[in-house]
Amino acid sequence: MTKYVIHGGKPLYGEINISGAKNAAVAIIPAALLVDGVCRIENIPQISDVTLILNILQELGADVRTVNRTTVDIDCSHIRNGRVPEELARRIRASYYLIGALLGRFGQAQVPPPGGCDFGGRPIDQHIKGFVAMGAQVDVHGGYIHAAAKNGRMQGTQVYLDIVSVGATMNIMLSAALAKGMTVIENAAKEPHVVDLANFLNCMGADIMGAGTDVIKIRGVDRLTGGFYSIIPDQIEAGTYMAAAAAAGGEVLVKNVIPKHLECITAKLLEMGVEVEEQDDAVLVRRTGPLSRTNVKTLPYPGFPTDMQPQIAAVLCLAEGTSVLTEGVWDNRYRYVDEFRRMGAQIQVDGKIAVIEGVGRLTGARVHACDLRAGAAMVIAGLAAQGTTEISCIHHIERGYEDIVRKLSGVGADIRVVITPEEDKQAKIG
Ligand code: EPU
Repeated sequence: MTKYVIHGGKPLYGEINISGAKNAAVAIIPAALLVDGVCRIENIPQISDVTLILNILQELGADVRTVNRTTVDIDCSHIRNGRVPEELARRIRASYYLIGALLGRFGQAQVPPPGGCDFGGRPIDQHIKGFVAMGAQVDVHGGYIHAAAKNGRMQGTQVYLDIVSVGATMNIMLSAALAKGMTVIENAAKEPHVVDLANFLNCMGADIMGAGTDVIKIRGVDRLTGGFYSIIPDQIEAGTYMAAAAAAGGEVLVKNVIPKHLECITAKLLEMGVEVEEQDDAVLVRRTGPLSRTNVKTLPYPGFPTDMQPQIAAVLCLAEGTSVLTEGVWDNRYRYVDEFRRMGAQIQVDGKIAVIEGVGRLTGARVHACDLRAGAAMVIAGLAAQGTTEISCIHHIERGYEDIVRKLSGVGADIRVVITPEEDKQAKIG
């Protein structure tokens, strides 16, 4: 078994470089399926979700070449419209983008239902509503989603999303880039990665307007050709290290970011008494005094991101007074609370609301990462806690954080990866 072992209670000082955005990369890589030519994609994060989605493209016949650590060339010119392999697709949420991309390219797709973190139900009815409105027939049989466009090509139309959904917005955009006519997505998501996907597609010759607002217009074109694109920095990775500096104290320069994307996080840290200084492409986070309580509600962008909810909860556990955290996106994103309680946190959860009594100090414990962001929150809590914290199930964390141990060690954290051979042996026997 591989664990992170953290000796906490040490303030952090130094600089952390932010990688490319996971949730942009896992949509932009499938978008290469729409392109007739070579896409050079830069600032790709080295995380397991990206490796998986690249493997899926290769299984479908894409030519994927590594140019350097963060750059790949993807050529889908000779791709066939095969079935997406189940064992790979079920391990990642973003495999749903293959439905939109394959529908756009071939007018048909066969993709297994997606996997990903467990936050209760994660329906994709809004994606399907969009595909059906654009003339596709969609049904599920044999463990696969089968989608096929009438006459082999998607047809532009107006799609109103009943719920603001990042995945549905981006998936419909993928299926519309090569459609016949104009697609209008109303009540679209406005997240930075929605804009990044539109920018990527436009760089390859698409005609997309309005990304970043709640109405996106996609005029279908006949062909996309290759080009260069650099993925935006990861808003959530940056926010996670900002929260780590707030929790552990010290002074950390979080570099290679777009400060505008971090404003929702910066605003909350300022309310808690953390100093945050915006620079051109960096934010300096300093915390020397005590943390104040605050309330946080997660909402679609530009609201406070749900993917920062467990990390901000870790900081609120250390604040003076009572804070109220409201989850406004997912039904069940508090599964990590029991792990925090092992570290001395006082949290009561009722449905979508968590009431956090600040305890001033957490203590190290053995905990596990229940999912990606919950795992990141355990790391933050461990950095701030007195004593030793051991975090298991770290594969969840490595799905979305490139080199987290190296990056945190670089600012003075005492964090190590530990492989326990006895438990490995036991796991093999089990
Ligand atoms: N929803 C529906 N029907 C749909 C789609 C969504 O009811 O067809 C609901 C969901 O159940 C949820 C809300 O709408 O309550 C928002 O879901 P959304 O579709 O926006 O989420 P997603 O596209 O599945 C992406 C990220 C998540 C992030 C959410 C919200 C990827 C691969 N995943 O998921 O990221 O929490 O948007 O911002 O982009 C993470 O990175 O840790 C992560 C979980």
